[in-house]
Amino acid sequence: MPDAPNPDFAAWAREGQKRVEEALERLLPAATLAPTRLHEAMRYACLGGGKRVRPLLVYAAGQVVGGSPDALDRAAIAVEAIHAYSLVHDDLPCMDDDVLRRGRPTCHVRYDEATAMLVGDALQSFAFEMLAEIDVPAGPAVVVEMIRTLAQAAGSRGMAGGQAIDLAAVGRTLTLPELEMLHIHKTGALIRASIVLGASCGAERSADQVAALQAFAKAAGLAFQVVDDILDSDGDPAELGKTPGKDARANKPTYVTCLGLSEARQHARELHDQALRALDPLGARARRLRELADFIVLRRH
Ligand code: IPE
Ligand code: IPE
Ligand code: MG
Ligand code: MG
Ligand code: MG
Repeated sequence: MPDAPNPDFAAWAREGQKRVEEALERLLPAATLAPTRLHEAMRYACLGGGKRVRPLLVYAAGQVVGGSPDALDRAAIAVEAIHAYSLVHDDLPCMDDDVLRRGRPTCHVRYDEATAMLVGDALQSFAFEMLAEIDVPAGPAVVVEMIRTLAQAAGSRGMAGGQAIDLAAVGRTLTLPELEMLHIHKTGALIRASIVLGASCGAERSADQVAALQAFAKAAGLAFQVVDDILDSDGDPAELGKTPGKDARANKPTYVTCLGLSEARQHARELHDQALRALDPLGARARRLRELADFIVLRRH
């Protein structure tokens, strides 16, 4: 994380990013395996880019409960695969029609639209395959719970539903509760799932810990999309790796287009405080989650 203020956190984050990259590299089907174009495009969409915030949240939540490293790796790549799929579809001409992602041509530009659609389909299946093969200390019943958590977060009452609300809202001004509903679904759901999945990988989790993590996840997930909206409005294209200014041009209701930049910034600060307060009962074990909350709000990309 080049813009992380704290070198110790930056080193921890780099290590986590390396683990995710290596696990994806190893577990995604090889590009030489038929159908080679689809496998190559799946690897293009997942490898060599992205901040890996969701996997880092999996690892950081895992630290709170003493999660097993192998299980955390699997959970991390499952959630990253769903996220990468959501980006590939989000960029399609029928959705946000974007040509730049993670500093490179979007999947449908580099390959073609039909391939990009299939990349999303196949990455979604890949994610559930990864979860189904997981071995957690609390046993197979928890694995089933994890599969349900990710399925709900990705589906019509989670990310995909949020994307539907986003498209239906084009050209409208939303109220604060409506905006919150949109963001909680399209981005918050997967962020919340990352934290729940990380917590599921530990043998030591208590109901109180899970409640604190859930409260943190809700605020951090919402903050993530509020900051994404801010960066779309005032981000530097070179740092961002995607085209800024798209929300206003596409008439998307966002925290910035509906409330203005300074109110959106204020809201991000409030959510940041809320997220940090939620971690108070967890003590020193939640250190990386605190640092990730700081990163989510202070990032420039
Ligand atoms: C961008 O997500 C899309 C949203 C859900 C807001 P990220 O900002 O996490 O994108 P990458 O993974 O770092 O490219
Ligand atoms: C994307 O929101 C949310 C999902 C991909 C689920 P945006 O459309 O704002 O994301 P960017 O700005 O293109 O990354
Ligand atoms: Mg979008
Ligand atoms: Mg988009
Ligand atoms: Mg955006």
